[in-house]
Amino acid sequence: MKDNMTFLELVNKRCSVRSFSPTMVEINKLNKMLFAVQLAPSAVNRQPWKVYVVINKETRVALQACYDREWFRTAPVYIVMTGNHDESWKRADGKDHCDIDIAIATEHLILEATELGLGTCWVCNFDVQKCKEALGIISKSEEPCVIVPVGYPADKNVWEKTETKRKLLTEITQYFY
Ligand SMILES: Cc1cc2nc3c(=O)[nH]c(=O)nc-3n(C[C@H](O)[C@H](O)[C@H](O)COP(=O)(O)O)c2cc1C
Repeated sequence: MKDNMTFLELVNKRCSVRSFSPTMVEINKLNKMLFAVQLAPSAVNRQPWKVYVVINKETRVALQACYDREWFRTAPVYIVMTGNHDESWKRADGKDHCDIDIAIATEHLILEATELGLGTCWVCNFDVQKCKEALGIISKSEEPCVIVPVGYPADKNVWEKTETKRKLLTEITQYFY
């Protein structure tokens, strides 16, 4: 995989990584990922997110109990993205844009990680209450939305090996000429 990727090459490189090497992620790489979150757009620029970077053993173990999968335990770092429903923008019809904002910020984080050679996986199928307890979140309005395990892939060739299964463009596109 070449170093100077175009945006489309980067997006094409990203895949869900579900097995990590125990090698620690460098702090400067984590900082770049956080900067990518900071730059994300959000509805009415509310930036309703908070980012928890979990490195210490005790909190990692507490998070692992929220999503009981063997592969998930291999990650050296977890990043939990939370959304604050008191801060997020609500449209006139009441639609809360919190999830949209958090999704954009999370994908910024993940694409930056990919550029840096780090593996990630979106994880939303976790126990939210346990996650709040693990992070000491007591606010009712702050919701953990996604846990992103981060680390170097156990298999260095995972990027090339992982098949991208997607619908055809003709299935998902409609033009109005
Ligand atoms: C919102 C969202 C939630 C997801 N939750 C999980 C999850 O809980 N566990 C998991 O293993 N993968 C999860 N995934 C990963 C998807 O299964 C994966 O992105 C999809 O199959 C496409 O594969 P790719 O990421 O390798 O391109 C999630 C992805 C998204 C976008």
